[in-house]
Amino acid sequence: MHGARRNLTAAWQAKDLGQIREILSELTRDDRLLAAAACGASGEIAVETEEFPAQLACAAQLPRAQTQSGPIREMVTLPTGRVHLTALPLRHDDQMLGVILLIHDLSFLDRREGASQRFLFIAFALLSIAASLLTLLLTRGLWRRWTNTLRAQLQGGEPEADFAPVAADVRALVGQLVRERERGQQEGRWSPQRLRGVLTEHLQGERVLLVANREPYIHNRTASGSVQILHPASGLVTALEPVMRACSGVWIAHGSGSADRETVDAKNRLQVPPNDPAYWLRRVWLSEAEEQGYYYGFANEGLWPLCHLAHNRPEFRDSDFAAYREVNQRFADAVCDEAECEDPIVLVQDYHFALAPAMIRRRLPRATLITFWHIPWPNAERFGICPWHREILSGLLGSSIVGFHTQAHCNNFLEAVDRFLEARLDRENDAVIRQAKATLVRPYPISIAWPNPWATQAPSIAECRASVRAELGLAPDALLGVGVDRIDYTKGIEERLLAVEALLEAHPELVGRFVFVQLGAPSRTVIPRYRTLNDRLLELAERINQRFRRPQYQPIVFARAHHEPPTVFRYYRAAEFCYVSSLHDGMNLVAKEFVAARDDEQGVLLLSQFAGAAQELTNALIVNPYDIRQTCAAMHNALLMPSDLQRERMRSLRALVAEFNVYRWAGRMLLDAARLRERERLNQRLRQRETSEASESSRDALLWAQGPL
Ligand code: G6P
Repeated sequence: MHGARRNLTAAWQAKDLGQIREILSELTRDDRLLAAAACGASGEIAVETEEFPAQLACAAQLPRAQTQSGPIREMVTLPTGRVHLTALPLRHDDQMLGVILLIHDLSFLDRREGASQRFLFIAFALLSIAASLLTLLLTRGLWRRWTNTLRAQLQGGEPEADFAPVAADVRALVGQLVRERERGQQEGRWSPQRLRGVLTEHLQGERVLLVANREPYIHNRTASGSVQILHPASGLVTALEPVMRACSGVWIAHGSGSADRETVDAKNRLQVPPNDPAYWLRRVWLSEAEEQGYYYGFANEGLWPLCHLAHNRPEFRDSDFAAYREVNQRFADAVCDEAECEDPIVLVQDYHFALAPAMIRRRLPRATLITFWHIPWPNAERFGICPWHREILSGLLGSSIVGFHTQAHCNNFLEAVDRFLEARLDRENDAVIRQAKATLVRPYPISIAWPNPWATQAPSIAECRASVRAELGLAPDALLGVGVDRIDYTKGIEERLLAVEALLEAHPELVGRFVFVQLGAPSRTVIPRYRTLNDRLLELAERINQRFRRPQYQPIVFARAHHEPPTVFRYYRAAEFCYVSSLHDGMNLVAKEFVAARDDEQGVLLLSQFAGAAQELTNALIVNPYDIRQTCAAMHNALLMPSDLQRERMRSLRALVAEFNVYRWAGRMLLDAARLRERERLNQRLRQRETSEASESSRDALLWAQGPL
């Protein structure tokens, strides 16, 4: 360029425009130089090559070229694209002669950039395709090998070494899941038939042996000399009775009725339900002293207040525990007596029988023992209050499954085992392993029969409303709240009555219009704490009635008596709301019964946050029963709630209880038991093979080697 510049300067001095053109043409032969022009000192174009863009003028460059000794370089965007402009001043003896403009073609840069991008894109695409193909080939190879092996084993082949632990389990589980799914699809919602199907399909049609203190039918001799059959007020009975009807078998219970002995056969049995026999009731007789120590003493003055956070001090006496142990043994013996095979299915119910599972296990090591604890389980610290906490835990761990209503209670139980016993906790399977024996610890929230026979047999809503109001001497449009309980200090009945008082105080317009009916079944009245509670409730109801009484009106009707289910359901169906105010409760089935009773999709459920049911029935009005102001406001809301809102809430509550009914509760436990039995059968085979060389701990590992249940 230096040579060209010299020649140009010479040609400029000689004013030889031809020579200048020739030099510029020569320069533009380089294919990166697009065009060139020579500008005179006054800004005119003196010479230009053919391609020189018309948009570029000399004048724009001259002022800068005059002040700058070197070339000026800049990018210029033309309609045809980007170009690079170099303005080269020509000087002679510091005198400005003119400026040479050189236009460089930059399209090659764009082209090169585009080419690089295309190259990179193609290279990446090729690389990705190659990597994907490689992965695909590898995966297909591995998958084919795995599925072939698994298929062979599911078809009964001999497992390969590395598949040995899972193959049999997968085979059993797949079979079971397929059957369960097919059954689920065919039968939809859980029903008595579906529950029965679980027994025939998965448990070889076994009949069930059930141990519960409370019997489902009590024969009492009345004052007139006739025998009356009572359905006891017990959540346990409400739930288990329909299950036993579906499953058949034997319910072993304490014969507590005054005419019970007269109605059994030589083996202390009778068939029930009395008018449609479906299973056997076997009665166990207890002496007064046994009943006092086992039932009133250890179970209801010890364990009951221990497990409920209701501010009642548990009482523990040696003599009570001795009676408890003895009676547990009596019931365990009755179970073994009723067992027709080595591995019966036994359902042990509630806190009356914490020792029985281990006692039954001793005599029937292969039995499937499902124990359900119907009340809350306290935290380990509180549980430790019981002087026999280790015995209680060991007794329960005789079970194959221990069930609670909620996960929180399962956690408390596991925490207690961890703290007080030498046992391994298998958190993944929610199991306790002790002496090479596993006990599953699972939540099974209990429920009621659906469709509920008491609800379906009840008179129409209009009839219930009219008959209940007539019975109470109320106007047809009187507003009604209802509570249904055993009279127990855990039920929060005092708090409930105080909330009614607060309601009438805050809303005087309700005085004379609103009545709260408490159906209260006397319970455990041999225990002083229950007697004082009865007295206190009567006094409280009386005080409130005194305060708001009008001619022909009292706000609280405290119906302290045993009420048979048809009466209870009539009240459920007649009421504006039902209030369940438990201070602490495992589940509380009154809440679910009220929902079942309201096929008109009306009525409001007020439910304590401390009842297990509150975790499921979230569309109830959930309240803290200790907070009288809050519950009073909730009662007022319930009375004013528009019908469409009541319908919306009640509909969703009913859908929930219908789906999660008691057949599902029992079915899920039985299915878990069936899996456990299958697993134990396999483990037995494995153990037989391994026993010679396996140590205690490796047998323990074997037990769970087949993966989670
Ligand atoms: C609770 C217990 C049941 C018991 C019921 C009635 O629901 O969990 O086991 O049957 O209360 O009490 P009772 O002492 O009369 O059987």
